[in-house]
Amino acid sequence: MAPPVPELQLRELFPLALAQVQLRPDPLDSAVMLQALLQLRGEQEGNPNPGYAWTGDLHGVAQIHRLPPFGWLSDQLQQQVWAYLLALGFDPSQLAVHIQRSWPVVSAPGQGVGRHHHPNAHLSAVYYVNGDGTGRSGSLRLYPHRQANELVPGLAVGHGGPIAAGHPLNSAWVDIAPQAGLLVLFPSSTDHAVTCNDEDEELRLSVSFDLVITAPARASGPGAGSGSQAGVAPEYLSPHPSDWTALQAPAGLAIREDGGTQIERPRGPLADE
Ligand SMILES: [Fe+2]
Repeated sequence: MAPPVPELQLRELFPLALAQVQLRPDPLDSAVMLQALLQLRGEQEGNPNPGYAWTGDLHGVAQIHRLPPFGWLSDQLQQQVWAYLLALGFDPSQLAVHIQRSWPVVSAPGQGVGRHHHPNAHLSAVYYVNGDGTGRSGSLRLYPHRQANELVPGLAVGHGGPIAAGHPLNSAWVDIAPQAGLLVLFPSSTDHAVTCNDEDEELRLSVSFDLVITAPARASGPGAGSGSQAGVAPEYLSPHPSDWTALQAPAGLAIREDGGTQIERPRGPLADE
């Protein structure tokens, strides 16, 4: 009799950490946020691309965490961001975290958002102002950075096999259904999209945040700000923005129609004309 075949064990390596937390906003806070989002959108119905949702960042509505209707949400986000970073093993005392941008996304029926990621940021978050958990109004679709388990590049997309459709170790994407009050956080480098809003009439309302992580601000006082403390930040962590120096744009720099640049000659007594 042949000996039994030892059972194969699988270890899932290098997980992508999606954070989810169901917040419990006061109904009045929710109503105020919803009203504010609709006012910010105004008469605009979508982005220039057909079928695209209205995203505030493309319409100059990109700092809504500074607006009073979103104060409650900004406070909640702050708590959850630190909880997320702690869970990932970060030491908060060695970091500063900044909300770089925040904007509403409004999907009307038939609208969605194409696949993209946020190279301008490190950590992204989305809060759902409405949603019933079914995904009918459009799910957040997250894509893996790389599908190592499909073995043959491209196979996991499916279209008839040979990999079982929806196999958890070969998911081509994961969908998160919007639920009113749900906050999700994920690395900004993660490709994502929003699937089509298939509701008959209901708008899908969410708020997105982009955050950037830097070294903490240096202490003020004698010696602070001198070169003596330069290099305190770990090599790959940007120094705090308060340590940055903005360069002045060169006067008269213009981009030509052919894409090149030129500096216009000064007008006046020194001009050679
Ligand atoms: Fe996005």
